[in-house]
Amino acid sequence: MSAAPGQPQPLCLTTTRPLSGDVTVPGDKSISHRSLMLGALAVGETRVTGLLEGEDVLATAAAMRAMGADISRNDAGEWRIHGVGVGGLLQPQTALDMGNSGTSTRLLMGLVASHPITATFVGDASLSSRPMGRVITPLAQMGATISATPGPDIKGLGRQTLPLTLTGACPAIPLRYTLPVASAQVKSAILLAGLNTPGDTTVIEPIPTRDHSERMLAGFGARLTVETAPEGRIITIHGEAELKPQTIVVPGDPSSAAFPMVAALIVPGSDIIIRNVGINPTRAGLIAVLQAMGGDITLLNQRDVGGEPVADLHVRHSALMGIEVPPDGAPSMIDEYPILFVAAACAQGRTVCHGLEELRVKESDRIAVMAEGLMACGIACEELADGLIVAGQGGDAVPGGATINARLDHRIAMCFAVLGLNARRPVRIDDARPIQTSFPTFVPMMQQLGATADH
Ligand code: S3P
Repeated sequence: MSAAPGQPQPLCLTTTRPLSGDVTVPGDKSISHRSLMLGALAVGETRVTGLLEGEDVLATAAAMRAMGADISRNDAGEWRIHGVGVGGLLQPQTALDMGNSGTSTRLLMGLVASHPITATFVGDASLSSRPMGRVITPLAQMGATISATPGPDIKGLGRQTLPLTLTGACPAIPLRYTLPVASAQVKSAILLAGLNTPGDTTVIEPIPTRDHSERMLAGFGARLTVETAPEGRIITIHGEAELKPQTIVVPGDPSSAAFPMVAALIVPGSDIIIRNVGINPTRAGLIAVLQAMGGDITLLNQRDVGGEPVADLHVRHSALMGIEVPPDGAPSMIDEYPILFVAAACAQGRTVCHGLEELRVKESDRIAVMAEGLMACGIACEELADGLIVAGQGGDAVPGGATINARLDHRIAMCFAVLGLNARRPVRIDDARPIQTSFPTFVPMMQQLGATADH
């Protein structure tokens, strides 16, 4: 991209031919964050390949360095982390700048909560409007002292926001906590706080969410149990753990793979392969929904990479049909709803999605912003309190011809760039810079598949 730093970088993707080729997507964002955090708490050298080198993960790396970890990257792209040991985090000397990253913020708040240090968390305008009460409430019960910026209340959990300052408790108080929202970030914050807390810390999740923290904590040698009970998944971590360094291979991010996947489904004649994509069942809900809409997606070479299931995805253009999307699958595809709405806009008939209250507190209010952008592109939709109904027009009937305000939300920017590939008139994104947070290779990868990028 050619615009000067600090200036908005518009983007418009178009194509006059089918998408084709064989691509990879960057490493999984959730696993990348956790690799750096757990590596920074292990004693010895953790090695990570396939780490997502996007701005969100780099914010986590900078924060872990500021708290004492030695983190480097060699020319071959391998990351090495020398950890400080559980209990060994140092007081950061300046505020931790979390940029756009909710995952960095909430998980690191958990880590700091059980160390005898004080950290101030700051972020960009999008992150500074997101609710932190959901982590402040349980971490305060564990003994942490938190002073946050007030905002409106959400679900009785308070709407405290960044900037905030957190002083950890040492020793912290073990907690048994039932999640009031289906959030892997809240679950993970409590489990990470539990790492340096004497005794057992338990999280009960009535609705299962992504389980990377559980898998990786166990992989690093923490004593962790998971039971399935009528009230939900009961996850218990035994504190004052000693973590052993690991060698981690990060699989491709299914949330990033979703963009070329939908692009290939909606551009006539397309036929692509996306290699090495994580298909953890707590993340892969979109694939089954797109298949139910008639999407031609085949999982090839299913295998296990470093404790995570992985496959190559073969995706071909398909005549999609609108469906009612089962709301119980929402946590397994929560980040993928915006791109599902794009697929729905190109499908024949209505797609109805419920159970998506959490979409309103992501990097933007993704229900409102998607509805507004789709309508600007000539797609009828109805915004619901907890979801969206998209009236698909089928085939290549998307009128397009709009400029979309991406509102500092990487996924909104990528969604409308993809929609533009199948619109009669170009769809322009006002500012594509947020894409750098999660998918720095998005534009070159789409060009590799045959799209033309106009900045
Ligand atoms: C994430 C959990 C999800 C997801 C986010 C990454 C994680 O957030 O939206 O992009 O790595 O734990 P919530 O847990 O708040 O739903």
